[in-house]
Amino acid sequence: MQTKKKGPILSIHNLNVWYGDNQILDSLSFEVQPRQITALIGPANCGKSTLVRCFNRLNDFTPNFRFNGEILFNGKDMYKKKTDVTAIRKKIGMVFRKPEPFRCSIYENVAYGARIAGINQASQLDAVVQKSLQRSGLWDEVEPILHGNPEQLSIGQQQRLCIARALTVEPEILIFDEPCGELDPIETVKIENLMRDLRNDFTLIFVTNKRRQAARVSDSAGFLYCGELIEFGSTEKIFTNPQDTRTEQYVTGRLG
Ligand SMILES: Nc1ncnc2c1ncn2[C@@H]1O[C@H](COP(=O)(O)OP(=O)(O)OP(=O)(O)O)[C@@H](O)[C@H]1O
Ligand SMILES: [Mg+2]
Repeated sequence: MQTKKKGPILSIHNLNVWYGDNQILDSLSFEVQPRQITALIGPANCGKSTLVRCFNRLNDFTPNFRFNGEILFNGKDMYKKKTDVTAIRKKIGMVFRKPEPFRCSIYENVAYGARIAGINQASQLDAVVQKSLQRSGLWDEVEPILHGNPEQLSIGQQQRLCIARALTVEPEILIFDEPCGELDPIETVKIENLMRDLRNDFTLIFVTNKRRQAARVSDSAGFLYCGELIEFGSTEKIFTNPQDTRTEQYVTGRLG
């Protein structure tokens, strides 16, 4: 669990990203505060996923990816040559739009991260699995079928299983890239409530193109448009008193 730290947990300075010759992100600078929910909003293809994939170095695997600028994680440049990328990915977890549980039991999906972290004793593993499933609000629903196949779960339950899996390694930051994109309204509300609960212990970065969802859930918000960060600030300000006309048009549904 992260300790309360002073200052931003992530600082992005003048970030530019290209795929080949195509510039996707243009001179982005902003800060993510610990134990807040920071929403990144904007229309399709504006670069939201590209941006958050920079935060746990997932773009390292993308051919033609090129960037300059600086991303500091707890004050340290995460793209420095000597950075332990595996450690970064452990500290900055990711949950995607489409839940994709591993092809093993519900229990093993959650135990996976703990095993990698070196926990092998059965009683310890049981405790970690139970805690993660309780935190993701799934324990009561899956306790009787822990050793069953995750395919029997609803999509929303599978998403909460993926969140439990991400929690097992005690990350500092959790990135949710459109986590409700495949979910019905009831399951969506569960994930929104869960995100609010998780904010007590983790920093959340929440990508969504659903404006009202960002307004409901987040503390801070950034509006991305065509690869530019048009405006960043408190969610209240972005949604009720934006400074840029494009932000105003977007949050009122007249743009994008
Ligand atoms: N691996 C890649 N190689 C080349 N271009 C890419 C790659 N991934 C994304 N792009 C392009 O980068 C731009 C930004 O894409 P990105 O997925 O970051 O947008 P997004 O805001 O997450 O969109 P959405 O809301 O649809 O998820 C798009 O034009 C996309 O086609
Ligand atoms: Mg995306």
